[in-house]
Amino acid sequence: MMGCMTSGTYRICVVCLGNICRSPMAEVVLRRTLADHGLDRRVVVESAGTGGWHVGGPMDARAERMLRRHGYDGSGHRARQFTRDWFDRYDLVLAMDRDNQAYLRSLAPKNVEVRLFRSFDPDAQPGAEVPDPYYGGDDGFEEVLTLLEAASEGVARHVARQIG
Ligand code: 4NP
Repeated sequence: MMGCMTSGTYRICVVCLGNICRSPMAEVVLRRTLADHGLDRRVVVESAGTGGWHVGGPMDARAERMLRRHGYDGSGHRARQFTRDWFDRYDLVLAMDRDNQAYLRSLAPKNVEVRLFRSFDPDAQPGAEVPDPYYGGDDGFEEVLTLLEAASEGVARHVARQIG
């Protein structure tokens, strides 16, 4: 939709608020799922936050620990802030919740679709969000991981259809 496929690579950006919990977790989970579908050489996954408080910093330690416990590596993450001019870098922008989706839509060119990550989970209700785990305990991070794994399958199927 944004024309990056002219380069032969389909590009996805997953976006939350701080880019230290949900979206960096989504980035590594989705990357793994795409690899499982044999799509890793054709798809690039990146992440960002709508807020800039943590730019340049690592993933939240609780998020990284939860990932490690489940066999993922989040140690290379450095937080970034999404800005308006990034829309033409991506074919698909996926928001973790409705607030961030609304904010991204307010920045986006008219032709750009910003979807909720969980809209690709066939078992999720319309409008379902990945809840912000930042102010809670470890169980919130576990729930985030479960929700991300469920929706990532649907994202991978969508991408497979898009790139044929
Ligand atoms: P995230 O979680 O959006 O999943 O990365 C948050 C991280 C930091 C803040 C809020 C949410 N914060 O307010 O600093």
